[in-house]
Amino acid sequence: MTEYEVELVWEGAEKADREANIATREDETVLEAAERADLGLPFGCRIGHCGSCTGRLLTGDLEHARRPLALKDRHLDDGYVLLCIAEPRADCRIRVGVDVQRELVSNPWK
Ligand code: FES
Repeated sequence: MTEYEVELVWEGAEKADREANIATREDETVLEAAERADLGLPFGCRIGHCGSCTGRLLTGDLEHARRPLALKDRHLDDGYVLLCIAEPRADCRIRVGVDVQRELVSNPWK
């Protein structure tokens, strides 16, 4: 059984930086592994449609188990991933948190 180490990194203005390490089992998503480790990551649809679970891949490799409809091609090119459908294919380091969400959505009040 292949397991990969995933380092989740919260960094930015929302709170003090912190990190957590989890291990994913074969064909397990990052969100499922985080839940098994009692880490509270946000989610909504769990099928790649809403974007609530977006993170940004810093290093490593993963595949989306289905089409990540919540992300545009330019987001995918920039390393954004949907943790509810993201299955690691190597050890990964992934940035998570509200600041990642903010990067994706343009603020109409600027
Ligand atoms: S929970 Fe909706 S895209 Fe991941």
